Amino acid sequence: MEAYHEVLFSLGDSIMSAQPIASQPVPSSAIRAFMARKPRLLINGEWVDARSDKTIAVFDPATGQEIARVADAGPEDVNRAVAAARAAFESGPWPEMSPAGREALLWKLSDLIERHAADLAELESVNNGKTRFMASIIDVPGARDWFRYMAGWATKIEGSTIQTSIGGVPGAKFHTYVAREPVGVVAQIVPWNFPLAMAAWKLAPALAAGCTCILKPAEQTPLSALRLGELILEAGFPPGVVNILTGFGETTGAALVAHPGVDKVAFTGSTEVGKIINKSATDTMKRVSLELGGKSPMIVLPDADVGTAVGGAAMAIFFNSGQVCTAGSRLYVHSKIFDSVIEGLSGAANAIRLGPGLEQGTEMGPLVSKEQQERVLNYIESGRKEGASIAAGGEAVAHPGYYVKPTVLVSVKPQMKVVREEIFGPVVVAQRFDDLDEVVRAANDSPYGLGASIWTNNLSAAHRLIPRIKAGTVWVNCHNMLDPNMPFGGFKSSGIGREHGRAVMDLYTELKSVCILI
Ligand code: NAI
Ligand code: MG
Repeated sequence: MEAYHEVLFSLGDSIMSAQPIASQPVPSSAIRAFMARKPRLLINGEWVDARSDKTIAVFDPATGQEIARVADAGPEDVNRAVAAARAAFESGPWPEMSPAGREALLWKLSDLIERHAADLAELESVNNGKTRFMASIIDVPGARDWFRYMAGWATKIEGSTIQTSIGGVPGAKFHTYVAREPVGVVAQIVPWNFPLAMAAWKLAPALAAGCTCILKPAEQTPLSALRLGELILEAGFPPGVVNILTGFGETTGAALVAHPGVDKVAFTGSTEVGKIINKSATDTMKRVSLELGGKSPMIVLPDADVGTAVGGAAMAIFFNSGQVCTAGSRLYVHSKIFDSVIEGLSGAANAIRLGPGLEQGTEMGPLVSKEQQERVLNYIESGRKEGASIAAGGEAVAHPGYYVKPTVLVSVKPQMKVVREEIFGPVVVAQRFDDLDEVVRAANDSPYGLGASIWTNNLSAAHRLIPRIKAGTVWVNCHNMLDPNMPFGGFKSSGIGREHGRAVMDLYTELKSVCILI
């Protein structure tokens, strides 16, 4: 079996890393034509101008060059989109449509994603910085599969009949049941690390449940959501069922969260903004689900194979340039094998071939933005100042584009910022441990609780650890593995609610108890 990491990283051929960073190949004519499109919003089934003519610049992270402009949705546009979503929810074809009708539309959309997979992967790569290869094996098929899986849920939502013991009226009998209804108009605010996949994670279950949506992609990466909007129209979703507003978080996003016409907000992004959203949504008592940051531990027990642990750790932290909410960013290795694992991981980090996403052979792309590059470099600097040592990387690349070298920090202390805070870049902090109680304490010593992984072939040790780790997902001998049928979300400051699987239907439905005196 080919190890997961071998699909993405060749790890070990360090000659490659000596090669200079290539320049970004010119995107295909189809992608260039799409990027030259007039900035427009998708409202009520039509591409419309924003009321103000403000636009937002979109950059290629591999070059730092502007590649497109998108509309900056203002308060009037938010009102229009909410009104369209409300009208589509309350009347017209959508509420009349059978669950099988919704299922068919979601499948049609997934087929369109598949048909346009190559273009979508290229667009995602140019806008986000990730490699086209990765977008084509993870992001795009993921989006397709999320729509397919959730399509099935449209016809499987059900309530229950219940028996009551209502007293007070002698001889009275009741027929009582619990119905599950769509929650209504939902605002979905997504981040820039997996732009298309995040849009799918949000839209697919909401549409399966019969909700109507206003999707706000991140200002850095709006392009694949706009392309998805075109495919949504092509699939034949009725007007107003999906609206797409490009805009900034503090304006467009905040206006959606505060809007009284929105019933629910689903958000993926920083814990900082998740808290702001949760507070703001309280005023209108919106339902809120939050998928937030993480600082996920990867725990390597003494029996683990060093090569496997090295490959696993490289995947866990360097996949998607470390811009992954579940990234294995705190590495805990048993003292017995710590030095060998760190030596192997540092060699692997040095061997990863950085480059632009469209260039064949690139293994890791730049970070998404200048801001993110600076944020990550500042964290590395703070680690250095607080006494951490750099075993690999630790700097940007002297080349245009927002590159940061894969970085391994050692000699770190639990209270350092680099250990406590989410860095969201290709930076891992490694610590040693000697016994299980110690590593459980260390792993849980975090405000976050999104993911964790345990590396061992000691079945009993793994099963003893799993219940003690405070995280929404625990992987064993793998990391970052997701499936539309696996509930996903966080303990503690990593969020509220579980997406995917049966659990996500709780987020997009309301229960209605019906009690009939018979
Ligand atoms: P962010 O949380 O500010 O942005 C995510 C989304 O929220 C974007 O669509 C943005 O426009 C929107 N947003 C921002 N402020 C908002 C507000 N007041 N009201 C409504 N929507 C708002 O994340 P940012 O600033 O891009 O990245 C900062 C850090 O957040 C990263 O370094 C990383 O640590 C974390 N992050 C975590 C993600 C995850 O998957 N859990 C994804 C992206 C960022
Ligand atoms: Mg922000």
